[in-house]
Amino acid sequence: MRAALPDDAERIGLAHVRSWQAAYAGHFPQEFLDGLDPARRAEGWRRRLEGSLPDREALLVAETSTGIAGFASVGPCRDDEIGAGGLYAIYLLPEVWGHGLGRQLMVASLEAPGRFDFDEATLWVLTGNGRARRFYEAGGWQVDGATKVDEGPGFPIAEVRYRVALPEGAPCAATGSPRRWPGAHGSRQPARGPDLPTRLR
Ligand SMILES: CC(C)(COP(=O)(O)OP(=O)(O)OC[C@H]1O[C@@H](n2cnc3c(N)ncnc32)[C@H](O)[C@@H]1OP(=O)(O)O)[C@@H](O)C(=O)NCCC(=O)NCCS
Repeated sequence: MRAALPDDAERIGLAHVRSWQAAYAGHFPQEFLDGLDPARRAEGWRRRLEGSLPDREALLVAETSTGIAGFASVGPCRDDEIGAGGLYAIYLLPEVWGHGLGRQLMVASLEAPGRFDFDEATLWVLTGNGRARRFYEAGGWQVDGATKVDEGPGFPIAEVRYRVALPEGAPCAATGSPRRWPGAHGSRQPARGPDLPTRLR
């Protein structure tokens, strides 16, 4: 697991699209999924990676012997009322699902030193994304009761919000290890960064 570099954009775009196409088949219109373009996604990620990431955001890639298998991004939670961290996205190529890579990537992302020092973290997940929900729940995340329906792409996407505590100095439910970074923590107002290439996690 390491911080993403601009040259990773192509593989990130590919993992992004292939992961969406596999995870959201049956949930999103097939025509929409078929039309996703890895090169276009890659361009968005390249632009982001060539600039500097907003304060307290991190983008990590999972690198295997065959190259980059996926990525995760974290930063301040984008829900205005919550001063927490947010797991914005975690996507792996379908062929590596279920082999522990997602767990490693999650741990590395939530521990991104100096980038993600929050007391708690939130994420939004498609209500019907059973695999991802099982993955998060195994990692200690719990639904917090918030729901929303995003109409952005032209069809409704029902999502539920999860939260996990990231207690300083104590084993973290999501990562199973102590938070490593020192320093201030507490409820903070999230600083909004520029939009990611995609809103859906
Ligand atoms: C969701 C996703 C990132 C998970 O990654 P993964 O590599 O498949 O998951 P892992 O192999 O690390 O985890 C799977 C197993 O470990 C468990 N696990 C994961 N984190 C854990 C933790 N911190 N503690 C205990 N168990 C954990 C999982 O529940 C699961 O258990 P199982 O083997 O009994 O099924 C991956 O499947 C993916 O890319 N899916 C499609 C995209 C997607 O839906 N992304 C989320 C959008 S919100």
